[in-house]
Amino acid sequence: SAITVISVPFGMGAGRPGSEMGPDHILKFGLVKKLHQLGYEVSYDKRILLPEHIEIAANISSPMKHEAEAIAISSVLAREVADTVRQGGTPLILGGDHSISMGTLSGLTQHYRELGVIWFDAHSDLNTEATSPSGNMHGISLAVALGLAGIKPQEIASGAVPIKPEHCVIIGARDLDRGEKAFIRSCGITCFTMHEIDRLGIEHVVNEALRIAGDGTDGIHLSFDIDSVDPIEAPGTGTPVRGGVSYREAHLALELMNESGVITSADFVEVNPSLDHNNQTSKLVVDLIGSLFGSRIL
Ligand code: ARG
Ligand code: MN
Ligand code: MN
Ligand code: MN
Repeated sequence: SAITVISVPFGMGAGRPGSEMGPDHILKFGLVKKLHQLGYEVSYDKRILLPEHIEIAANISSPMKHEAEAIAISSVLAREVADTVRQGGTPLILGGDHSISMGTLSGLTQHYRELGVIWFDAHSDLNTEATSPSGNMHGISLAVALGLAGIKPQEIASGAVPIKPEHCVIIGARDLDRGEKAFIRSCGITCFTMHEIDRLGIEHVVNEALRIAGDGTDGIHLSFDIDSVDPIEAPGTGTPVRGGVSYREAHLALELMNESGVITSADFVEVNPSLDHNNQTSKLVVDLIGSLFGSRIL
């Protein structure tokens, strides 16, 4: 089978620069070789760049920073993701900051009309323009995909539809803003915080997530924010939060997703090489993607 790696060197949705260097680093540390060894056909020449002329007029009343750029890059990405799915490839998107998932999900829903989403993240990225404390676009991307924000999925890609909250599962949360908590409590999203991972174990949590995101859906997208992993293992990220999933828990989660055989696409985001220590975060992502695609210890 064929994996289409799509690089998105875009970091303007984060509060500090650097995640735009993520894709090149992840590729440099052997991702393609690893996927080849696992038996996949891999294309990796797709790079999504900001159009020279951004057609979307900047909404000057918006409190969000670089909103026009994040929408523009997401629109181009959505088209590429939709093309990949149409051609039968499995999209593997390398960020970039998490705002790009607005594009990934808008592209996917053109094909998967009832898409399930597993959002693996220290955060929930469920702020809206009205609740965002930072004005950073990477903090609103899941809200956009659910149709809750001012920016709508259809504005990113015509024909896109919002993800339904009951098809969406967050795993690893430990830093939620007020508006996000209120929304999670009321909307029917499942959120396994670190507390539930501690109590139930990562295996149970992931199996439940796969069941929920797979119930009545026609595909499951994994959106993996590297800040879900504890900063001891993944220091190279812009919004680290202590108390994250361990190296082993992260691998087990991805191995279980591989065994399930139901994940139809993935993005790996928020690697910031300028904050990394000896490239350990970039190398970790290569190994984690390996686990998602079938790499095993023995
Ligand atoms: N909740 C905070 C905000 O809205 C942090 C979001 C961090 N998001 C991320 N994808 N790393 O700004
Ligand atoms: Mn995130
Ligand atoms: Mn995060
Ligand atoms: Mn349903």
